[in-house]
Amino acid sequence: MFNREELELIDYFKEKRKNFPILKQKVHGKKLVYVDNGATTQKPKVMLEAINDFYLNYNSNIHRSAHNLAEKADINFEATRQKVANLINANSNEIVFTSGTTDSLNKIVFGLEVQIKKGDEIILSVMEHHANLVPWQELAKKTGAVLKFVHLTSSFSLDMDELERLVSSKTKVVAIAHVSNVLGTVNPIKKISKLVKKVGAFFVVDAAQSLPHMKIDVKKIDCDFLSFSAHKMCGPTGVGVIYGKYSSLEKLNPIVFGGDMIDEVAFEKSSYNEIPYRFEAGTPNIEGVIAFGRVIDYLQDIGLNRIHKYEELLLKYFLEKVKEVENFELLGPWSMKDRAAVFSFNIKGIHSHDISAILDKEGIAIRGGHHCAMPLHDKYDFSSSSRISFYFYNTIEEIDYIISVLKKVEEKFEKGDFLL
Ligand code: ALA
Repeated sequence: MFNREELELIDYFKEKRKNFPILKQKVHGKKLVYVDNGATTQKPKVMLEAINDFYLNYNSNIHRSAHNLAEKADINFEATRQKVANLINANSNEIVFTSGTTDSLNKIVFGLEVQIKKGDEIILSVMEHHANLVPWQELAKKTGAVLKFVHLTSSFSLDMDELERLVSSKTKVVAIAHVSNVLGTVNPIKKISKLVKKVGAFFVVDAAQSLPHMKIDVKKIDCDFLSFSAHKMCGPTGVGVIYGKYSSLEKLNPIVFGGDMIDEVAFEKSSYNEIPYRFEAGTPNIEGVIAFGRVIDYLQDIGLNRIHKYEELLLKYFLEKVKEVENFELLGPWSMKDRAAVFSFNIKGIHSHDISAILDKEGIAIRGGHHCAMPLHDKYDFSSSSRISFYFYNTIEEIDYIISVLKKVEEKFEKGDFLL
């Protein structure tokens, strides 16, 4: 069924799975099958060791003191900035640390407020996560800018014809998710970038669901800003990134003020520190950023292209197998192209929370609800959905197991097997 290359890939990632201690446990007496990776991924041991090392050996603040511990903290913190830059082919002064994608997007949106005037148009897609929607709504309220939405084709891809019609001289910003956290659709961001650049607007890419799974080169995309979170790529929670093209960061205002983001401070006024530090007020998540650096080494060692290839294998296998499940309604494309290994679905007549509870009893961790994308669910008349999202430590055997449980969901629901 699998060719030799695929079998090698499967074996390779089975070995990698051993780096994740949490996956060895049982839940309700069943082997844990963790497929809620769109919400957060599990952590390899090297990440935990990096955090321990920081607190056991050199806990200190950064960019402030000159003692030995502080110097080590500084060096390791700044080393992560360089590692992130290398990961996405940026320069280190184009990397801003934040607390996560939501924080990154808020800092981009409100940092751009100075650039927006009444009547300017901001284009989003209907598949945006709340973090790439609600801040823009607030900005529109404050500035009088107008939000425009690109819809989807019948196969759940972005309607590029509509986008082409919407982009005009009034467009100030286009902000789009690279991969939908609900549909799994992969958007053609290079093509979108070309359209946006024609009218000189800012192009913002939410890469929270893509960067953990594929190689991204910000120079090739030619975006102004790109946001992502460490915790969706084996790193700690509380660490995120804004990549900003240097010339675009120069146009962005800081929106959080205080220590570290300043150059000169007098009682009456202050001047800002250089880019990127002016966007990093206050003490950051130092150990988290350092541990993220360790995780980037780990992922680079595996190779994001290899991760992508393996996840493609998982997604093809899952899409084939899941056809055997009766009454399974996929909220997303059935196509195997331009799609990530994220599957939101319903089983007719059973609420997503009940499906989650049934699967949990069998050791399978998924997410049920609206996945912070309420308008998208409303649009497709799904009050909610269940979501299975894979990462590289998931296995073919786990997919077989998930399918076998999904086939019994209706029966288990009728019996009330999942009730406490
Ligand atoms: N955005 C995260 C998710 O999709 C929280 O679950």
